Amino acid sequence: MWALAAADFGAELEVVELPRPEPGPGELAVRLLAASVNPFDRKVVGGMFRGSAEHRFPLVPGTDGAGVVEGSGERIFGTFFHKPVGVGTYAEYVTVPEGNALAPIPDGLDPAVAAALPTAGMTALQLVEALGDARSVLVVGASGGVGSFTVQLAEAAGKRVIPIRRGDSLVEADALIDLVSTDRSSFEANARYAPLAFNTNYVSADPSQNFGMKGSREDLERLAAMVLAGELEVPIARRVPLREAADVFAGRGPGKTVIVMQVVVLAR
Ligand SMILES: NC(=O)c1ccc[n+]([C@@H]2O[C@H](COP(=O)([O-])OP(=O)(O)OC[C@H]3O[C@@H](n4cnc5c(N)ncnc54)[C@H](OP(=O)(O)O)[C@@H]3O)[C@@H](O)[C@H]2O)c1
Repeated sequence: MWALAAADFGAELEVVELPRPEPGPGELAVRLLAASVNPFDRKVVGGMFRGSAEHRFPLVPGTDGAGVVEGSGERIFGTFFHKPVGVGTYAEYVTVPEGNALAPIPDGLDPAVAAALPTAGMTALQLVEALGDARSVLVVGASGGVGSFTVQLAEAAGKRVIPIRRGDSLVEADALIDLVSTDRSSFEANARYAPLAFNTNYVSADPSQNFGMKGSREDLERLAAMVLAGELEVPIARRVPLREAADVFAGRGPGKTVIVMQVVVLAR
């Protein structure tokens, strides 16, 4: 199979041919149609779990994807966390252990759109739920994957959203969602603007402010239903075929990048 992989921690991604991963006990084998890129993937290649988890090299990153289950033919999307680390979704095939959040791709939902939903969409959904009855919310990092979903979902929940993009100044609000700070002092500076504050990079000394997404099939189904109903726009900024995607960590920019595994030719 073709895959994007890093030969070592910190190495550039390369398009490589690898053996298909074999499913272990309780694992599904999935032929991927699309995968989306999350900052977590770049961090894993950078060595986030070096020394604390077993890795397989060449390391194929990627936790989010949409594909077809081998054998049953069911079309699914969700998260594909794997141990050892390195059997990821930037590939034509992946295996997925039990315990991951997976849901059927509903009829009418483009697999590339489904692949863009899991991590960013579930994080946004759960962050907005964590806001409780806060009436206004600052979203720092509003133009990114999580931020784009968070702004839409918070507005749909009736909150006054103050999106903070690079260079914007903060103002006081009931709540703060900080998707950008990677150190405690910068989060603490932002958290002064709101009595309720969350970050997604685990930088606060107060664990209740360190938000961690929990994968859930129900949340995936809710997100897919909202997209189909036209209630949630999926901000795909770039769709790139797998064999041309070695640069996916280089470009940032707004919205989501989706790696597409094959060109689907629709019958007339
Ligand atoms: N804890 C969890 O469960 C969890 C779940 C999902 C994500 N995360 C983490 O949350 C963070 C955001 O994820 P993501 O998927 O949204 O990433 P992303 O798509 O890369 O978006 C980050 C956004 O922040 C913007 N930004 C950077 N510096 C900024 C600044 N100083 N002020 C305002 N905006 C700024 C970036 O804009 P530019 O394009 O201008 O740089 C980008 O649009 C990542 O660190 C990710 O690892 C954690």
